[in-house]
Amino acid sequence: MSQAFYCTTPIYYVNAKPHLGHAYTTILVDVASRAAKAAGKETFFLTGTDEHGDKVVEAARKNNMEPKAYVDYISGLFSDLWPRLSIKPDRFIRTTEDDHIKVVRQILAKIYEAGDIYFASYTGHYCLGCERFVLERELVDGLCPDHGTKPEVISESNYFFRMSKYQTWLIDHIRANPDFIRPKRYANEVLSFLREPLEDLCISRPKSRLKWGISLPFDENFVTYVWFDALLNYVSALGYPDGANYKKFWPAVQHVVAKDILKPHGIYWPIMQKAAGIAPYQHLNVHGYWNVDKTKMSKSLGNVVDPLALAERYGVDAFRYFLMREMVFGLDSSFSEQAMVARINADLANDLGNLFSRVLTMAGKFLASAAPARNSALEKESGLTLENAANTMVEQYLEACQSFAFANALKAVWDFIGLMNRFVDTNAPWVLAKDQKDKPKLETVLYNLLEGLRLVAALIWPVMPDTAEKMTVQLGMDPRMLSVGKGAALAWGGLPAGATLAEPQALFPRVDWEAIEPEKEAKKMESAEQKNPAKEQISFDDFKKLDLRVGLVTDAQAIPKAKKLLLLTVDIGSETRTVVAGISLSYKPEELVGKKVVLLANLAPAKIMGITSQGMVLAAVDEDGARVLTPQKDAPPGTPVQ
Ligand code: MSP
Repeated sequence: MSQAFYCTTPIYYVNAKPHLGHAYTTILVDVASRAAKAAGKETFFLTGTDEHGDKVVEAARKNNMEPKAYVDYISGLFSDLWPRLSIKPDRFIRTTEDDHIKVVRQILAKIYEAGDIYFASYTGHYCLGCERFVLERELVDGLCPDHGTKPEVISESNYFFRMSKYQTWLIDHIRANPDFIRPKRYANEVLSFLREPLEDLCISRPKSRLKWGISLPFDENFVTYVWFDALLNYVSALGYPDGANYKKFWPAVQHVVAKDILKPHGIYWPIMQKAAGIAPYQHLNVHGYWNVDKTKMSKSLGNVVDPLALAERYGVDAFRYFLMREMVFGLDSSFSEQAMVARINADLANDLGNLFSRVLTMAGKFLASAAPARNSALEKESGLTLENAANTMVEQYLEACQSFAFANALKAVWDFIGLMNRFVDTNAPWVLAKDQKDKPKLETVLYNLLEGLRLVAALIWPVMPDTAEKMTVQLGMDPRMLSVGKGAALAWGGLPAGATLAEPQALFPRVDWEAIEPEKEAKKMESAEQKNPAKEQISFDDFKKLDLRVGLVTDAQAIPKAKKLLLLTVDIGSETRTVVAGISLSYKPEELVGKKVVLLANLAPAKIMGITSQGMVLAAVDEDGARVLTPQKDAPPGTPVQ
C-alpha cells in the first residue's frame, strides 16, 4: 500500500455558523492526519464549504445579503475558526471557486456523453431542508422524516442520473470490500436501503427556480443539483484529472462524515465515481451525532454549542482531548460542559499533569536534571521496566487509529499513565534516593518514567499538539520529532542519556466548576450588552412601556466568585431595589455608593448567581468597559426618565 494518506471532512453548508458538530468532524480529521504524518505517511487534509443551493439562497435572503457576499462571510467564519482550534488543513475548498466549477462541468459532460444522464418530466415531493425530492415511501405522515416539514409537490422537467443502472455493482462492491463503509452498522444500513430498487437521481434545477448553482454544460437553462456539485469537491481539490495531488492521493482516501449524510456518500458518490470512470474511494468513515445534554442541538432550542468559547475557556488541547476521548466512533454522544470539566480534572490535570510534574521534580532533585542512561542489565535482573506495557499500548493505539477509534487509542494511553502512576508509588523514588547504594535502581525507575512520558507525548501529539510539544521540550528534546519522526518516536528507548530536563511547568490547571458558572453568566450579560446590531424600529407606545427612573445607589458589594458582577441596592423613591449589575470591571463598589443612576424598573426579575435582580442599571458599554448613566442635573430618586 502506498504511503499516501488523504483525509476529508464534509464541506459544510454556509447557511449557519460553525458549531460543535462541525468542529468535531474537523478535529477528528486533523487528528487522523497528524497520526498518519507522525507514522511517516504523506498526508493531505481537505475541508471547505459547500456554497450553492436553495438553502444558501434562503439564508442570504433572510440576512438581507446577496448570495456571494453572504457565502464569503460565512465561509470566512469556518476558515478563520480552524487555526484557532489547532486544525491545519492542507486545502480549504469553496465550491464557488473556478477550478472546482470547471471540474464539475467536465465530469457532468463526461457522464452525459456516456448516456447516463437523461431528460424527463417529474412530479415529486421536494424537501427544502434535504434539497432533494423525497420518496413517497420515505415520508412519515406526509412529512419529511428528517425535517418534520411538509415537502412541496413540484412538477418540472429535469435531468436525471441513471443511478439504478449501477445498483447491483454497488451492492457487490460493498459486499466485496467489507470495510468500504465503516463501522459495519452503516454499511448494513446502506445495503438495507439498496434492497429496494434505486430511483434515478434528479440532478438539475431549472434556473427559473434556482440561479445560485453551476450551469449544466449541456443545457445552460439549468444548474446542477447541490449534492452533485458538492461531492465532486473531493476530486476537484486534488486537481482532477491530471494534477499531481490527484495522482498521488486518489483513491487512497478516507472520507469522514456523520451519519446524517450517509446516503449521499454511501450511494450517490460511489455511483457517480463509477459512472465517471473514477476509482472508488477507499473508505467512508461514519461517526455519530453530538447531542447536548441528551437533546438534539438546534438553533430553536438555543443549545447550539460554540466550539471557540469552549476552547477559550478550557484550552484548545483540553477541548480536543474531550471530544476525541468521549465519542465512541460510530455512536452518538451527549455533550455536557460539566462532564468535560470532570474529564479535564481527572485525566489531564490529575493523571497526566501531576505525573509529569512529579517525575520532572524528582529528576531535578535526585538526578540534577539530567536524563539517566538506560540500564538494560538491571532492568532484566529486577524486572523494573515499563517497556512491555509501553509496547502493548503502542500496538493498541495504532490499531485503534487505523479505524478512527481515537477514544480507544486514548484509553490505551491513559491505561499506561495509570500504570506509571502506580509504578511511582510502588517504587517510591524518594525512598531510593536516601541510600547511595540504591542509586542504580533509582536511575532505572526514573529512566522508565521519563521514557514513558516521552512516548506518551509522542502518542498524544495528534490530539494535543501544544501539550505534546511542551512535554517534549521540558524533557530536553526537539519537538519536531513529533511530526516528522517516521514512526521512530513510537519505539521504546528514544530518550537520550544526558538530556537536560527542565523545571516542570503545569500542563493543565485544575478547573473549578463552581467558579465557571458565574463567570459565564457575567460573560453572557457582557456580550449581550456589547453586541450592537441595528435594531428594528419601535413605536412611541413601545418605548412608553419602559419604566425608567432615577435611582440612588445606597449600597454596593462585590459578589463572591463572580468576577464581573456587583450587587447594588438602589433607592427609587417609592421603594428599594436589589440589582445585580455586570459592571465590576469598570467600577469599585465604593465608587458607586451615593451615585444617581437610571434604572429600568419594570424589567422582569431574573435570578443571577442565586440573587433575584429587580431591575437593570443603564450604562454605555463597549470593549472599554461600562459607563453608568447618571442625570446631568440632580434629580431625586424616582424621577421618571423619558
Ligand atoms: N454540505 C453538506 C455536505 C457535503 S459533503 C460533499 C452538509 N453540510 S453540513 O453543514 O450540514 O454538515 C454536515 C456535517 O457536519 C455532518 O456530517 C458532520 O460532519 C457535521 N455535523 C453537524 N452537526 C453534527 C452533530 N450534531 N454531531 C456531529 N457532527 C455533526 O451536509
